[in-house]
Amino acid sequence: MIAIYPGSFDPITYGHLDIITRCSKKFDKVIVAVLNNQNKKVVFSIEDRVAMIKELTSEYPNVQVDNFDGLLIDYAKKKEADVIIRGLRAVSDYEYEMQMSLYNKQLYPEIETMFLVSDTKYSYLSSSIVKEIASYHGDISSFVPPLVEVKINSKYRCE
Ligand code: COA
Repeated sequence: MIAIYPGSFDPITYGHLDIITRCSKKFDKVIVAVLNNQNKKVVFSIEDRVAMIKELTSEYPNVQVDNFDGLLIDYAKKKEADVIIRGLRAVSDYEYEMQMSLYNKQLYPEIETMFLVSDTKYSYLSSSIVKEIASYHGDISSFVPPLVEVKINSKYRCE
């Protein structure tokens, strides 16, 4: 079974890593697919986001990291993926995720979306809020791995 875990990952947090780790134990192959969306304002370039995830997942031989643009289902077809993985942090995530999964199913009926409930330790995490805390020089060490912390701080500390 091939699973795709898509997202913006701007940047990856411990919450995303938890989902990737759990998926790597359940699927033959996990493709972490980083969205390269020119219209979405991001802090980290696509190259930086992919490089950070590659480094953090290097211990998992069945995890690949790639970038994509366009429709997720087109990418999923190209990669012959069986399932799309999305993490659910709270009930508030559910409505949007359910809507996306129904569109994806309509566009590509062969694909299934599977939801993994976030570990409660990470259920409040959000990449935007982590960046906001860093922008005010707050401590983000409990939200992101050290290499991401250094990268985020270097973006905001030189301003
Ligand atoms: N742990 C921590 N944070 C999590 C999380 C988890 N397990 N799951 C989601 N998040 C957070 C992210 O940090 C991010 O926070 P932010 O908004 O504060 O930055 C937020 O949830 C959403 O991020 P992400 O999971 O990366 O999703 P996204 O909404 O940026 O991207 C795609 C969703 C890529 C799946 C979707 O936009 C897509 O498929 N795009 C391609 C175009 C397409 O096919 N469109 C039609 C879809 S029907």
